[in-house]
Amino acid sequence: MIKRPRLIEQVRKALRRSRVVALLGPRQCGKTTLAREFLSVGQKNYFDLEDTDDLLRLEDPKSELASLRGLIVIDEIQRKPDLFPLLRVLSDRKPLPSKFLILGSASPALLRQCSESLAGRIETISMSGFSLEEVANRKLGDHWFRGGFPHSFLAASNESSFAWRKQFVQTFLERDVPQMGLNIPAPIFRRFWAMLAHSHGQIWNAADPAASLGVSQPTVRKYLDYLDHLLMVRQLQPWHENLGKRQVKAPKIYVRDTGLLHLLLGIRNKKEFQNHPKRGMSWEGYVIEELFKRAQPDDAYFWATHNRAELDLLFLKNGRKIGFEIKLSDRPGLTPSMRIAVRDLKLERLFVIYPGKNNYGLDKRTEVVSIFDLEKINLLEHSRHGKR
Ligand SMILES: Nc1ncnc2c1ncn2[C@@H]1O[C@H](COP(=O)(O)OP(=O)(O)OP(=O)(O)O)[C@@H](O)[C@H]1O
Ligand SMILES: [Mg+2]
Repeated sequence: MIKRPRLIEQVRKALRRSRVVALLGPRQCGKTTLAREFLSVGQKNYFDLEDTDDLLRLEDPKSELASLRGLIVIDEIQRKPDLFPLLRVLSDRKPLPSKFLILGSASPALLRQCSESLAGRIETISMSGFSLEEVANRKLGDHWFRGGFPHSFLAASNESSFAWRKQFVQTFLERDVPQMGLNIPAPIFRRFWAMLAHSHGQIWNAADPAASLGVSQPTVRKYLDYLDHLLMVRQLQPWHENLGKRQVKAPKIYVRDTGLLHLLLGIRNKKEFQNHPKRGMSWEGYVIEELFKRAQPDDAYFWATHNRAELDLLFLKNGRKIGFEIKLSDRPGLTPSMRIAVRDLKLERLFVIYPGKNNYGLDKRTEVVSIFDLEKINLLEHSRHGKR
């Protein structure tokens, strides 16, 4: 078993504060396994809404759930969104006999229902596959190449990892997507996803995928949003600073898990990966996901102007503005673009993340930080002293 202490602590804290905690993550990332850590009362407080026996136990959900004490876990909540109004009633009891941990593979409908009927009572935590911190720094090569899904990362060989990911994508398209009520032919959605992988790290442009799939631009836009809601793809929106310069308006697209990215690009082994033209972009997406797992920003953007100044990632957290540049080189130095980003965006700090071991400063605000040392950016977790 790979230990996930940071995530467990996050859920524990949320359960202390809130009556309902939603743990959302893509299929197969380890949600159920994590939730079991919290089930001290035992199996009778656990309901898997994909299990027919558990569904039978919930035939009269109100009396069943009201009779239980302690933490109640409801898994695959997207299967029964009509439970939300009941959770609201149950979590408003005084004194409160039980709290709820609900798990789901983040459908858009799920999120909408939660926020409407449980407003003020629910806290949402997003999770994904293993982080580098969880699998250990020395596994960087495998973790980057295979991605963080437990079965892909822990597979006995790169070949069986690839085979697992291939099966995952197929099941996702043939079972999970239709189950969410989305009616898209699997082969078309598969081709679209592969096209996204080819434009990983680039600015989104609907025209090309629309033309090659023979569908309209609003339709490919909808496909993109589905993959986003199902936590497979990340869209980074462009930041707009009022500078009078022309700035980019479309989002940047990343396949969130690098293992799935490499599958969709058809990269089977590390030799093919070594010289692959997308290697640099893959690294960029890898680091972005690691930074999200660590810093949990309030908001995130990229920044680009038409005269070539740019910033890979901008995090807003507790009123602070922190920039990140991501490099796949041995010894990154200060560039004119970094200077412009710090100045024009008024960044408090700019961190340059790279795969080397040592950290070093480039100037007063800019520092090169090793991928193995993301602890350094934990200062993001505290609000700036004296300022709001
Ligand atoms: N920390 C871990 N260490 C080792 N293996 C793990 C870990 N977490 C999960 N796994 C394995 O990964 C697989 C998926 O885990 P789990 O069922 O918890 O994911 P899930 O997010 O609930 O998936 P689904 O959305 O399909 O229900 C399981 O086979 C599980 O044993
Ligand atoms: Mg599960």
